[in-house]
Amino acid sequence: MTGFSTDWLALREPFDRTARSASAALLDLQAAAVRLRGDDPVLHVIDLGCGTGANLRELAPRLGGAQQWLMVDDDPCLLAALPESIEAPGWHANVRPIHLDLALALDAVPFEEARLVTASALLDLVSASWLDALLDHVRAANVAALFALNVDGRAAWEPGLAGDAEVHELFAAHQRRDKGFGPALGGEAAALAVARLDAMGYRVTQAQSDWCIEEPGMLRAMIEGMADAALEQDPSAQERVGAWKARRLALVDRTCLRIGHLDILALP
Ligand SMILES: C[S@@+](CC[C@H](N)C(=O)[O-])C[C@H]1O[C@@H](n2cnc3c(N)ncnc32)[C@H](O)[C@@H]1O
Repeated sequence: MTGFSTDWLALREPFDRTARSASAALLDLQAAAVRLRGDDPVLHVIDLGCGTGANLRELAPRLGGAQQWLMVDDDPCLLAALPESIEAPGWHANVRPIHLDLALALDAVPFEEARLVTASALLDLVSASWLDALLDHVRAANVAALFALNVDGRAAWEPGLAGDAEVHELFAAHQRRDKGFGPALGGEAAALAVARLDAMGYRVTQAQSDWCIEEPGMLRAMIEGMADAALEQDPSAQERVGAWKARRLALVDRTCLRIGHLDILALP
């Protein structure tokens, strides 16, 4: 669950979609799109760390009308899974993939060509200095920003079990490891992005888009992913983490896990 295989992205997409339907009412994208589009018949969007296109599939119907998406990722296998275009009555989006390592070549992204820069489930991977550099580009190009599904550190199991707190602490520490962009922000990314965008004079709206997971397959993936990350973080905790994982897996048929996310819309 910490890698970005097509399988993991496919497993999480329905949960992302349900989570984002909770935030959609607070983030009025249709109104934002009308404003951003201005006189241009085509709304130009850049999606950073696009994966297989879940953010495109979520946002294109909500933005409406004609759209052109520049989809950026450093994984050619994920880019190969992108459609050339998607459409439904009332909207269509053309897709242009670009293979780029954003940690090394952020300056190569043509921010000035877009009216909206977006990313979903990306900001927890990046460092504070990389986020600053991204927001400098956003401000210089005077584009809107929509950062979705940013983990914010909240996690709650129902029922709670011994070991939850320790595994979460180790998991959160693992999230802050370098993911290629320098020391990762993990659950602090959303709050920092909001503070920076506010300071830039952007109009910022935040809305929670939590995962509420009761489906056993996804619960198993979360439990196994959390246990693996916790053990990588502290191999000496093997016995306790192993026992936690066994207790949790035995309970998947009557468990609810809430993972906190924040969606952020910032308009210039
Ligand atoms: C958690 S996934 C999210 C994917 C997609 N946005 C979604 O919501 O399904 C993070 C994405 O960031 C991409 N990524 C990670 N590091 C990157 C880098 N240095 N440059 C470009 N993309 C990167 C991964 O390949 C992956 O597609």
